[in-house]
Amino acid sequence: MIKIATIIGARPQFIKAAAVSRAIIKKNDSLPLSEKIIEIIIHTGQHYDENMSGIFFSELKIPEPDYNLNIGSGSHGEQTGRMMAEVENVLIQEKPDFIIVYGDTNSTLAASLAAVKLHIPSVHVESGLRSHNRLMPEEINRIVTDEISNFLFCPTITAVENLAKDGIGSEEKINLIYNFNRQHVFLVGDVMYDSILFNVKLAEQKSKILMDKAIDSGDYLLATLHRAENTDDPEKLKQVLVAFDKMVSQGEKIIFPMHPRTKKYINDLELSYKIKTPGPDSNIRIIDPVGYLDMLMLEKNAKAVFTDSGGVQKEAFLLGVPCITLRDETEWVETVQAGWNILTGADSEKILRAYSVMAESDKQSAPFSEFLNEDVSGNNSKSDCYGDGHAAEKIIDIMLKIFNK
Ligand code: UD1
Ligand code: UDP
Repeated sequence: MIKIATIIGARPQFIKAAAVSRAIIKKNDSLPLSEKIIEIIIHTGQHYDENMSGIFFSELKIPEPDYNLNIGSGSHGEQTGRMMAEVENVLIQEKPDFIIVYGDTNSTLAASLAAVKLHIPSVHVESGLRSHNRLMPEEINRIVTDEISNFLFCPTITAVENLAKDGIGSEEKINLIYNFNRQHVFLVGDVMYDSILFNVKLAEQKSKILMDKAIDSGDYLLATLHRAENTDDPEKLKQVLVAFDKMVSQGEKIIFPMHPRTKKYINDLELSYKIKTPGPDSNIRIIDPVGYLDMLMLEKNAKAVFTDSGGVQKEAFLLGVPCITLRDETEWVETVQAGWNILTGADSEKILRAYSVMAESDKQSAPFSEFLNEDVSGNNSKSDCYGDGHAAEKIIDIMLKIFNK
């Protein structure tokens, strides 16, 4: 039997891990008892509000965590250090064959550091992403996690190339000879694409968010914001809110499921007076973070999405919704190269210009293609970019071939 320890802690990781847990359960159906996979789920507790954590477990049917370390919030060093110590205790006790970590949060970094020191192999899902901006805490988490992980599962060709540039290795087919001192790179596609394909129909059947919020399809803009570079800088936060305010004054409705980090900073900001409290007649509608099915519905039916989230940029693209990214760089370059995403940073003028271009587009073709160089324009179709919707199954199949011998 193979024992896997999945270590997660933040909202996007629950969504990614759900796809892999589903693939494990499906695989187990076809395996003899002696070869079944045991998955232990360790929740670091980095996110802990019901609508940042619990809702994803129930909605996406992720098995209940075997351990909740309840680490909670803190400075980077404090949070990461406490997670490392607690994860280490569990790994010593559970002795998994390998761990799986996702993405680029402090939970990812803490878990992979704890594992490597115990000589437990680690799998990094969503490996190879780079913003090339070392001021982002996530960039440091990615670089270190990629450097110390053994199995690097990349969502895109760009990610594979980034690893090669960092000297980590190039894509392998399946190297059956596993060695703790080596790194193995695989291009499997994006587990979040798997997740959208699996959940979008479910969202259409189950979500009542449009009705609850009294909004019509195609009649609102959707916004999310939570990157430290935006929330922790009052000037940037103000620029974004000024742009939102202007769009609202032009008759737009903005639905803004607000991350708790952003709520905390906005409350301190003088501009908070501009944001009307949630209610049926206010046009910037700040709502609490929503579950994944509601979020997919909000994204799919939005006129456009304004975000600094990695996951939301990609979901907008995959759902065919224009995205205006409130950052200066993106890890998901394919969405920009396809003309469906544009980088404006937190600059109100650029945001408003992108909004005008979007508003004047025909809604059928890529709205931002005029900003592209000819050599990249039209290079990406959805299936090329993010795999075939079976990334999670591929990860499990590869790991079984290597470990189930
Ligand atoms: C983290 C990740 C980021 C990821 C994001 C997903 C790091 C460094 N950052 O950022 O990469 O995109 O999660 O959403 O790991 N808070 C609550 N309730 C919660 C969780 C957080 O109130 O359930 C508040 C606390 O005030 C906390 C703040 O949000 O201090 C920030 O939370 P934290 O987990 O440190 O970072 P995120 O901004 O969520
Ligand atoms: N998401 C959600 N509810 C929300 C906001 C986001 O379910 O209120 C989902 C979103 O659909 C995507 C993921 O959370 O799948 C993105 O997470 P987040 O923006 O927190 O982090 P990032 O992707 O930037 O790391």
